[in-house]
Amino acid sequence: MKITVIGAGYVGLVSGVCFAEFGFNVICVDNNTSKIKSLKNGCVPIYEPGLDTLIMKNSAAGRLIFSSEISSSVKDADIVFIAVGTPSKSDGSADLSHIYQVIEDIHDSVNKNAVLVIKSTVPVGTTRTIKQLLSNKGIELDVAFNPEFLKEGAAIEDFMRPDRIILGVESEKAKDILSHVYRPLYVFNIPIVFTELETAELSKYASNAFLAMKITFINEIANLCEVCGADVKEVALAIGLDKRIGDQFLQAGPGYGGSCFPKDTSALENFARKLGIQVPLVTETIISNRDRRDKMINKILNACGNDVKNKNISILGVTFKANTDDMRDSPSVDIINSMISRGANIRIYDPSFSEQAKEIFKNINFSKNAYDNCNDADAVVIITDWPEFKALNLSELGKRVKNHLLIDLRSMYSISEVRNSGFTYSSVGKKTFKPESQHE
Ligand code: UDX
Repeated sequence: MKITVIGAGYVGLVSGVCFAEFGFNVICVDNNTSKIKSLKNGCVPIYEPGLDTLIMKNSAAGRLIFSSEISSSVKDADIVFIAVGTPSKSDGSADLSHIYQVIEDIHDSVNKNAVLVIKSTVPVGTTRTIKQLLSNKGIELDVAFNPEFLKEGAAIEDFMRPDRIILGVESEKAKDILSHVYRPLYVFNIPIVFTELETAELSKYASNAFLAMKITFINEIANLCEVCGADVKEVALAIGLDKRIGDQFLQAGPGYGGSCFPKDTSALENFARKLGIQVPLVTETIISNRDRRDKMINKILNACGNDVKNKNISILGVTFKANTDDMRDSPSVDIINSMISRGANIRIYDPSFSEQAKEIFKNINFSKNAYDNCNDADAVVIITDWPEFKALNLSELGKRVKNHLLIDLRSMYSISEVRNSGFTYSSVGKKTFKPESQHE
C-alpha cells in the first residue's frame, strides 16, 4: 500500500509519519521547499514531542519520504490524503484555495485507481464538489473525508489512540482501503464510524465548535465564581464527574486560541448563515471568547492598581497552549500588546522558546527561565499552562520580584499553596487572595 499525504503541517506530517509507523510506504509532500529540506535533514519544523524520533525511525526504514514534487508523488499512490490548511477568510469562511490548487496540481498525474481522501477541515459539500471537479476533467476518483482530531502537543498520542475514526465514504472500495489503512488502530477496538461525506464533514466542525463552547461555558462560570466566592476548579470537578458532561475541556483560562477553534467556529457560523440557519450558541461562543481577552486585560490592570505605566511585568508563557511553540491566535498577543500600549515594561519567558513569539514580540526581552524573568517584577502573569509553571518555587520567586503579585490566568495554584507565600494571588474563577498584611 502506497500512501501520499499532501500538506506537511501538523495534521499532514503527523498523519504521514504515523501511517509509516503502521508499516505503510508514505510520501509526505509540501510546496514549502525549505520545510521539505529541513525534514529531509531530520529537522522537524514543528514543536511536537516525539515526532522527531518517529520521523528518523521511519525515514531510516525507508518507509517515509519527503518531497516537494507533487506530480511524481501521486502517480503510484493507492491513497492520496489532502491535509493542506483551510485558514479563515476575512468574512470567517474557510479559504479552500490551497485545496483546489492541489486538485489542479494532481489531476493529470494522480493514479486513476487511487482513493482521494480529504483530511483538511472543509465546509460541508466540499468533498463532493472536488469529486465533481475531477469528473469534469475526465477523472473518476473514489473520494472520502477523514477528519483528524489531534491536539497540538499531543498529536502522536491522539493519532495513535483516537476516541474514534470517522470515515465519510461513498464506495465499497474507499471503505475497504481506508479500513485497511486504519486496521492497526482497529485492533485496539477503536471504533470506526462510516458515514455519508456530508455527515463526516459536519461532524468535524460540530466537534470543534462544541469543545470551544464547552471551554467558553466554564470561562463564564469562572466569571461568576470570582464574585460569588465559589472555586471554578471545584465546580469543574463537581460537574465533570457527571458522565454526561465529562471532565475534559473544563479548565477555565484566558479563552481558547490556536489554529482550529477560532477558524472552525467562524467557518461553521459562516456556513450556517449562508444556508439561512442561525447557530446562536456558536455565535455567542465566538463573541464571548473574543471579549474574554479584554476581561483578562482588565483583570491584570485591576490587580496592578489600574496603572502599569513603567511597571515591570513578567509574562510566563505566551503560546496558545502548553507543549507547543504555536502562537496562532494566542490570547497572549492581545494581552501583551495592551500592556505595552499602557507603558508597561514586559519580559517574557516561554519554555518553547518559540521563534514565532520572538518574531511577534520583536522588541521584548526573553528570559532563559521563569525565575530570571521575574527579577524586579511588579507583577508576574501566567498566561500559558506549561507544566513547569504548576510548581514554581514561590519563595524563590518572592526573592526575585519587587512586588508580590501573581496573576495566574490558568488558576494553577490553590489558595493553600499561595497562602504563606506572601503573594497576592489573582486568578481566573476564584476570589483574589491577599496575604493578611494587605487586608484593608
Ligand atoms: C483542537 C481540538 O482539540 C482538536 O481535536 C482538533 O483536531 C484541533 O483543534 P488544539 O487547538 O491543537 O486542538 O488544542 P486544544 O488542546 O484543543 O486547545 C485549544 C485551546 O483551548 C487552547 O487555547 C487551550 O488553552 C484552550 N483550552 C483547552 C482551554 O482553555 N481549556 C481547556 O480545558 C482546554
